[in-house]
Amino acid sequence: MMANCCWLRYLAALFILTNCLVFALLLDLPAFDRHALLAERVRLYETMRANILEKESNNQLGGRIVLNAKERVANELIMFEKKHELERGLHNLSNFQASQHFFRSFTKINNTILFQRLRAMPKGGVLHAHDMALCSSDYLLKLTYREHLWACVSKSVEKEYQKLLFSLMQPQVEETCEWALLSALRAEEQSDVVDKELLAQLTMYPQEEFENEDAVWRRFRSIFRLVIGLLSYAPVWEQYIYRALEEFHEDGVQYLEIRSVLPILYDLVGGNFTILNTTRAMRNADLRFRASHSDWIGSRLIYAPTRRVSDARFAEYLGNALLLKSHFPDYFAGFDLVGFEDEGRPLRDYAGELLSIQGEIDFYFHAGETNWYGTNTDENLLDAVLLGTKRIGHGLALLKHPEVLRAARLQNIALEVNPISNQVLQYIGDLRTHPAAVLFADNYPVVIASDDPSFWKATPLTHDFYMAFMVIASRKADLGLLKQLALNSIAYGAFSASERVEAYEKWNLKWESWIDDINSEMTS
Ligand SMILES: *[C@@H]1O[C@H](CO)[C@@H](O)[C@H](O)[C@H]1NC(C)=O
Ligand SMILES: *[C@@H]1O[C@H](CO)[C@@H](O)[C@H](O)[C@H]1NC(C)=O
Ligand SMILES: *[C@@H]1O[C@H](CO)[C@@H](O)[C@H](O)[C@H]1NC(C)=O
Ligand SMILES: *[C@@H]1O[C@H](CO)[C@@H](O)[C@H](O)[C@H]1NC(C)=O
Ligand SMILES: [Zn+2]
Repeated sequence: MMANCCWLRYLAALFILTNCLVFALLLDLPAFDRHALLAERVRLYETMRANILEKESNNQLGGRIVLNAKERVANELIMFEKKHELERGLHNLSNFQASQHFFRSFTKINNTILFQRLRAMPKGGVLHAHDMALCSSDYLLKLTYREHLWACVSKSVEKEYQKLLFSLMQPQVEETCEWALLSALRAEEQSDVVDKELLAQLTMYPQEEFENEDAVWRRFRSIFRLVIGLLSYAPVWEQYIYRALEEFHEDGVQYLEIRSVLPILYDLVGGNFTILNTTRAMRNADLRFRASHSDWIGSRLIYAPTRRVSDARFAEYLGNALLLKSHFPDYFAGFDLVGFEDEGRPLRDYAGELLSIQGEIDFYFHAGETNWYGTNTDENLLDAVLLGTKRIGHGLALLKHPEVLRAARLQNIALEVNPISNQVLQYIGDLRTHPAAVLFADNYPVVIASDDPSFWKATPLTHDFYMAFMVIASRKADLGLLKQLALNSIAYGAFSASERVEAYEKWNLKWESWIDDINSEMTS
């Protein structure tokens, strides 16, 4: 075998063989010789083909992971399930869940053995998820049963819960909706009717197709507006964050970086809160959770306010970031901007301000979450890299900027891929067409995250892992890929060197015990 596949050598050998074959024909050599020459040519072709595949396999994400004997046992089991699912799909695409819209596929995916395996797998950390969209809708619904909660219900024909607010008295009059105590609404109507209506507005369900990205984002923002009043109530906030950690932990996650707008909390007695109170509550939740879960690595805050603001407001943000860093040096990870990128201001607008704190504050920018090409939005990728971002959120437009890709590789900037989010927010239809497949194929530093799992009723990470494994990665990609994704989430988390070692050890302990469990399941 050629040690390394080499196109030039192949072409040269092919050239010689082809010419020999032509001569053989011209000279009318015996059929026996011609036959031997052709056989040699076929052999060369097959060798070359195998070499190319081997090279591609070694170069893909996870391709350099060598599985030990016990891991190979788990791998066989997992690959059996993966191939089984894929065979069904190859046979009849209607049977294939992972290429369909998530709203149609998620219950069926839930029921697969592969999904259950992936759920139990220690997947490392989630490096991209937003504060208002972390928990299951069942939990959010439970929160709406707290007393003194008012709902502002639209006056238009189509009933819509526009806002939620805890208050002792009726809140201030709104233009487009009317306030009513939720408990009164539940008493008036059947409470399960109210629950159903509320649930429908706490997620993006059931509508799959919107006219365009603008329309999807309008709907997306309406959920945000609804939950913020529920969650930023001081007695709820810390509990909510704690619950988020629980749900992520149950889903095989050991570390979480929360991008938060840091809502100013409120209570019923006019308490005065600042973003420091918001952050302290988050950190307390994390400390309490750590105290009772020894395998929990921890959580961190990425302060991520909205990107569409005045220069003055933006200057305040940076002041906030510095304040947070000084108050919570071990909890604050860095800074980002959120919101519909095509509509917000580009990073370049803020470049001067951002450069002035570069070095003091780490950046984790969303960039290139767009289908446009040659606009400020996809060029945010350039700005993010020039500003020294540690990671890139989404980066859907990355393939259109090969220079940015090169820089990402060179500077080891991780790319945070959120498959289901990209589909629900309508940047991508069938996930088999996700551009991250190219990043997987060429072993870019990729992590898988879930963005806003609550809004599409996804598990905190497993569904996104499932999609990445089934359709973004090659059909042949195996446990090595899954392990690499978990390792990457540790490698690119906001850790100091010693924290990273500790994080790795906590993950590895769980990984080994998961592998052991599968092995004993096989032998018992
Ligand atoms: C593929 O599966 C769908 C749904 O199960 C079925 O309706 C359809 O007839 C199948 N197509 C073929 C070619 O078997
Ligand atoms: C899917 O599975 C997850 C985790 O096992 C569970 O929390 C969720 O309720 C399930 N959803 C459905 C619709 O079965
Ligand atoms: C907010 O935090 C400050 C300390 O930064 C504290 O003194 C104050 O009591 C907190 N506010 C409320 C309403 O708890
Ligand atoms: C909050 O601050 C305002 C203005 O500084 C003050 O009037 C009010 O009494 C404070 N509320 C509480 C509960 O301390
Ligand atoms: Zn995001």
